[in-house]
Amino acid sequence: MRLSTEEKAMLAGEQGKATQKAMEILVALGTIYGAEHMVPVTSVQIAGVSYDNLGEAGLHFLTEMEQGGGKARVLTTLNPAGMDVENWQSLGIEAEFAEKQIQVIEAFASMNVITTCTCTPYLTGNVPHFGEHIAWAESSAVCYANSVLGARSNREGGPSALAAAITGRTPAYGMHLDGDRRPQVTFDVQAALLENDDFGALGKAIGEHLQALEGKPVPYIRGVNEATLESLKSFAASLATYGGAALFHMGGITPEAGQYEPPGDPIPITPAGLSAAKIEMTDGDVSDADFVSLGCPHLSIKEIARIAELLEGKQVVKEFWITTARPIKQVADRMGYTETIEASGAIFAADTCCVVAPIKGRFKALVTDSAKACYYAAGKNHFQTILKPFDEVVFAALGESQPEAAT
Ligand code: F3S
Repeated sequence: MRLSTEEKAMLAGEQGKATQKAMEILVALGTIYGAEHMVPVTSVQIAGVSYDNLGEAGLHFLTEMEQGGGKARVLTTLNPAGMDVENWQSLGIEAEFAEKQIQVIEAFASMNVITTCTCTPYLTGNVPHFGEHIAWAESSAVCYANSVLGARSNREGGPSALAAAITGRTPAYGMHLDGDRRPQVTFDVQAALLENDDFGALGKAIGEHLQALEGKPVPYIRGVNEATLESLKSFAASLATYGGAALFHMGGITPEAGQYEPPGDPIPITPAGLSAAKIEMTDGDVSDADFVSLGCPHLSIKEIARIAELLEGKQVVKEFWITTARPIKQVADRMGYTETIEASGAIFAADTCCVVAPIKGRFKALVTDSAKACYYAAGKNHFQTILKPFDEVVFAALGESQPEAAT
């Protein structure tokens, strides 16, 4: 790789041990992927924050980087941790785990990383603009940033994201290059899309097609007439989960779509295909569910307002986690939504989520509106899953089977 004078100095150890290690990681990565040079980044988002995923080896790596003088030189935030940092006791987290998780957060803080733990950094001030080069790690956020914001990020691992934060660089390959952002396959959506679970099912249907195609091509999606921020975050999460995609173009919706003609013969996504995707994500019954969660990806303030509206004056009958970023929770506090939600018995789980928290085996079946949460609840935590539209998830927590009951 061609390195600038400053990058060579970093690699030679002239800016400290952690910077040297970080540059070694990036050069190795760039060499593997054939990058010719580095590109400066303006924003980083680091995954691998939950101690449940990181373990002792991960904590040791962070401590080494911290002791080696590593400091983030660009805006850097974190992915969800394994617990609500302020309120972990109410989530049933063990004190021993909490102690380790706090050590992880403190190590990041001492490296100048902003310890907002969220998979929706674009809702909390870490918002790159069109064309900006960034190094993000959370798959749903990478897919959202590339596709909806038009920023440019490969899906980084925890160490390479930290290395990008410390050096302010990432190797120029993949999503950073124009050529790799071109759509190669077209999907024609013929099904109506109303709610997050519809967009999640669409992500699964298209994602599974991508997995079966050679080289996991960048999809161009046509036939979607409107989509909200919330439905696009659901779609990006699902497409990344089921298809490993880091980028999609959606005609009339995403900013780069207009640069391209939809390529090739379109693959239809029919109403039957969408229904089949939903059915495949449901292997339990609401009446048997003992866990309900909304907020995968983390909830927007608009979604929290809706939950508060539905829970007003009522009591939940199942454990119900509301997962969001700390700054969004603080807005909910100010608006009185938190008081309404907590009076119902539902629990805020800020900084974390139902996938990264250490709750394997603790529940039998999860009700959610998230296709991504279904995938990991089944695969990682061994729960049965029930996919429902947003409002119906809240009704499930209330033990109300009829949506009309809450209007
Ligand atoms: Fe975010 Fe956790 Fe879902 S990190 S995308 S809420 S699995």
